[in-house]
Amino acid sequence: MKKIGVLTSGGDAPGMNPAIRAVVRKAIYHDMEVYGVYGGYAGLISGNIKKLELGSVGDIIHRGGTMLLSARCPEFRNKEVQQKGIEQLKAHGIEGLVVIGGDGSYMGAKALTEQGYPCVGVPGTIDNDIPGTDFTIGFDTALNTVIDAIDKIRDTATSHDRTFVIEVMGRDAGDIALWAGLAGGAETILIPEENYNMNDIVERLRKGQERGKKHSIIVVAEGVCSGVDFAKELKELTNNDIRVSVLGHMQRGGSPTAQDRVLASRLGARAVELLMAGRGGRAVGIENNKLVDYDIIEALEQRKHKLDANLFDLSKVLSI
Ligand code: F6P
Repeated sequence: MKKIGVLTSGGDAPGMNPAIRAVVRKAIYHDMEVYGVYGGYAGLISGNIKKLELGSVGDIIHRGGTMLLSARCPEFRNKEVQQKGIEQLKAHGIEGLVVIGGDGSYMGAKALTEQGYPCVGVPGTIDNDIPGTDFTIGFDTALNTVIDAIDKIRDTATSHDRTFVIEVMGRDAGDIALWAGLAGGAETILIPEENYNMNDIVERLRKGQERGKKHSIIVVAEGVCSGVDFAKELKELTNNDIRVSVLGHMQRGGSPTAQDRVLASRLGARAVELLMAGRGGRAVGIENNKLVDYDIIEALEQRKHKLDANLFDLSKVLSI
């Protein structure tokens, strides 16, 4: 392939910019031309496509968000709309596409691949819920943002002897809640993958209070329930002084951590190598610190992202 495209889609993630930079620089290094598709699949359909040069990706490695902009595009599920996207790419002479995004973006890349257009998926989402990779680009930065918030909330929770419920992102995946809860020393972590028992939570709080501990941090993934509703129920059962913090979209912003920049650089460059070798229809990832790639259809249909159950057990042991 001599001409490739790159787009970012779905919820943005810190590290998408270094991934775009890696795609562009790696491709140009190998004498390929690179085109940026602006605004995700919506921009693809409308033909918002521009050639990128080495300088187009200068000074972005440390920036959050995505210079190519992003969008959610439910209409891309429609086959005719997908064909329109392929026509736009072909009109620019683009022979393959790197798609950086989460599960919805991968579905789009899979659909294009099924229609005979070569795509490579690069996992970019704070949720860490893409099959075929241990980590997604943006997860580490989001985690550090959440931990920073938990640390600050802990200060005030301690001063006031309060229980805090902190709601974090993760509709279907509890990775952010679990990792941040463990790293932030939360007493209780609620994740969509595991049912919780309110009596156990109340009992934990009571035991803590018995040994003189009056503050407590409870991390709730948004997919479990709203932090506000949970706090109301807990208040009725304990009469504790409870406050709620919903961290929301601040978790998606900020300068990518070194970890995310390196991961993005490695995965972006690998995606280009695959297209260069004419190997579309793949999804790249990292497993045991080694770059891997899978058939994108197989990756989505046969592999499942699994939350680390050992980590969840450990969090319970360490928060007695
Ligand atoms: O996929 C990333 C994510 O931030 C999820 O954690 C969250 O549930 C969702 O996106 C929010 O999406 P939106 O920004 O479209 O409201």
